[in-house]
Amino acid sequence: MTTAPIPEHVLDIQGLRITLPGTARPVLDGVDLTVAAGETVSLVGESGSGKTLTSRSALRLLPPGAVTEGAVRVNGDDVLTMDEGRLRALRTGTAAMVFQDPRAALNPLRRIGDFLTESVRTESVRTTRRADATARATELLHAVGLDASVLHKYPGQVSGGMLQRVMIAAALMGDPALLLADEPTTALDVTTQAEVVALLARLRERFGTGLLFVTHDLDLAAAISDRVYVMYAGRIAEQGPADELFAHPRHPYTAALLAATPRLETAKGRLSAIEGQPPDLRTALTGCAFAARCAIATEVCDERAPRPRTAPGRPEHLAACHHSDRLEGSAADA
Ligand SMILES: Nc1ncnc2c1ncn2[C@@H]1O[C@H](COP(=O)(O)OP(=O)(O)OP(=O)(O)O)[C@@H](O)[C@H]1O
Ligand code: SF4
Ligand SMILES: [Mg+2]
Repeated sequence: MTTAPIPEHVLDIQGLRITLPGTARPVLDGVDLTVAAGETVSLVGESGSGKTLTSRSALRLLPPGAVTEGAVRVNGDDVLTMDEGRLRALRTGTAAMVFQDPRAALNPLRRIGDFLTESVRTESVRTTRRADATARATELLHAVGLDASVLHKYPGQVSGGMLQRVMIAAALMGDPALLLADEPTTALDVTTQAEVVALLARLRERFGTGLLFVTHDLDLAAAISDRVYVMYAGRIAEQGPADELFAHPRHPYTAALLAATPRLETAKGRLSAIEGQPPDLRTALTGCAFAARCAIATEVCDERAPRPRTAPGRPEHLAACHHSDRLEGSAADA
């Protein structure tokens, strides 16, 4: 008997291109991104760069009229082409998402216990008995630092931080191989943010889940990630091991983000202080998407889109920049 090979990555996005109606260029343009089992990968970039679209593509949650090219594999299965039955199983089992605002994702009129148990009872494991589902929900509530009394409460009766823990427990109900967290802490106060982040790290270790963490917060990305992808105007500008990428950025956009981010000991950094705007979707691009804002752009930057290139001797660190060699070591000294 032959067994299917175990995929190396729980998430493997290759050449993902998404075009939306009425736009002059793809909103995601050739995105390559992977997450291995037990790995934490952050996706950072300015507002509108395509982080949410990228993470939602792993569940095939796409805007109406979206046309896709490329592949998005979760545990080896291509999400973009799978049938509805497999897609339902994927969304209730293999992959799960924790959203930014837990209150928006919950029905205020349903008890938290019913919310937690309904997906496993109606979808992936139809035979799951209510008592088993409740036992599993209780176990996961404990794992996220809550007790079983929460099961009987309504969303309006618990704090935002507790509700985000409930959402994380809900995401784990189907034993996902991949957890997608899209700005999961931005609606929370700073102390609760730190608790939720620590919780995600512990859960990753305990359950071996691969985590794709979408955030604006570079300090947070640096602190929690094994690897980081920096996105700009629907393309991956730079990727690499978190410590190396932040210490030795090889893309002017990453370097500008770092320069624009207040350090930890001052205020929390939001990515907004780079001069100029990203190109809007009504503009077609022939060259580098960052050219209009880049201090070291030359003619070639307007003529040809840069392909990702590895840093010398560091094959895991890639930057899509014609002149990345000029940045060697710059931010580390800043
Ligand atoms: N449903 C939609 N219909 C039309 N355009 C959309 C839709 N969803 C996203 N877009 C466009 O796609 C681009 C990328 O959006 P996306 O939400 O992925 O960005 P983001 O990086 O998550 O931004 P933010 O940091 O603000 O959450 C934006 O230009 C946005 O306007
Ligand atoms: S390719 Fe050119 S414009 Fe783009 S980031 Fe590099 S130097 Fe700047
Ligand atoms: Mg977003």
